[in-house]
Amino acid sequence: MTTELPASQLSVSIVDEIEQLKGTYPGYRRAHARGVCYDATFVPSGVAADLTTAAHLRGEPVRATVRFSHTDTNPHLPDAGTAVRGLAVKFHLPGGGNTDIVGVNLDRFIAATPEDFLALLKSAEPDPATGAPDLGKVQAHVGAHPSAGPGLFTASQLPTPVSYGTTTYWAIHAFFWRAADGSLRPVRYRWVPEAGDHVLAAGEGGDWSAEHLTEELGERLVRGPVEFTLKVQLGEPGDPTNDATLVWPEERTEITAGRLAITAEVTDQKHWNSQVFDPTLLTEGIELSDDPILAARSAIYAVSYDRRSHDR
Ligand code: HEM
Repeated sequence: MTTELPASQLSVSIVDEIEQLKGTYPGYRRAHARGVCYDATFVPSGVAADLTTAAHLRGEPVRATVRFSHTDTNPHLPDAGTAVRGLAVKFHLPGGGNTDIVGVNLDRFIAATPEDFLALLKSAEPDPATGAPDLGKVQAHVGAHPSAGPGLFTASQLPTPVSYGTTTYWAIHAFFWRAADGSLRPVRYRWVPEAGDHVLAAGEGGDWSAEHLTEELGERLVRGPVEFTLKVQLGEPGDPTNDATLVWPEERTEITAGRLAITAEVTDQKHWNSQVFDPTLLTEGIELSDDPILAARSAIYAVSYDRRSHDR
């Protein structure tokens, strides 16, 4: 049975549980702790203009700041290991202000609600007798929440990309686009690398330094911008918008909303790395779906921000 907690208490409980399971690294994010920020430009294709009034998706190119990251709370884990990677994009809007798209190289999430996510973390707590997680408890959790299975399985087997610029990143949640005539359409985003998807083969990566992916990206940027295409899947009536463990059928229409060109490391790394990239930071023409994980993330990220910005 799931215990109902008020939203603010639930956010604190989730961050506390992450700390208990994974440890605390003062001054770092409670997830995606190691990351580096870059300058970028986003050029909209114009195709989205009939579907959303969002300024950055229909008009002139806009500046953006992006952050690539390793998912763990431990900022010192080596890059060659299996891990989810993040691409967070902060678009700087023409009239001032920002809007964010936060993606990972996984197409679905591992829990449908924040309560389920907390229960999943608790199921992975170490057994006091052995000091190791009791896999039976995790399996029992998945048995009771079967839609968590595919995301957990994919995450556990995820191959390491050879570059931050050679993997697809999904924003996972559904959002709604509002057009100039007021109509609403559910959408889902993914960033597709221009360089193609390329991963390490078995046995490769042994010679990588701990921060190889950051070094590799620096070398790649000397040769030219690292680019991604923003693909947007258009939902049909009946497609779930409230469950991040479920994906939509592949045959759904997908449009190309624009192209992101990452050009160089930001000069003020400390400033940009301290910012929050929040998927609920939207702009006119884009609205939240009814996904409870999406709704919860802002408060959870605020708890993490509060702790890390006080060097806790
Ligand atoms: C209940 C579910 C989730 C929890 C508890 C959670 C937790 C966190 C926390 C604590 C942070 C650090 C925030 C900060 O200090 O700025 C973070 C960052 C991040 N999360 Fe989540 N998250 C959840 C869901 C997701 C989902 C569904 C995605 C997939 C798109 C995602 C992708 C990311 C990425 C890419 C970052 C790094 C953003 C950056 O570079 O600043 N998270 N998450």
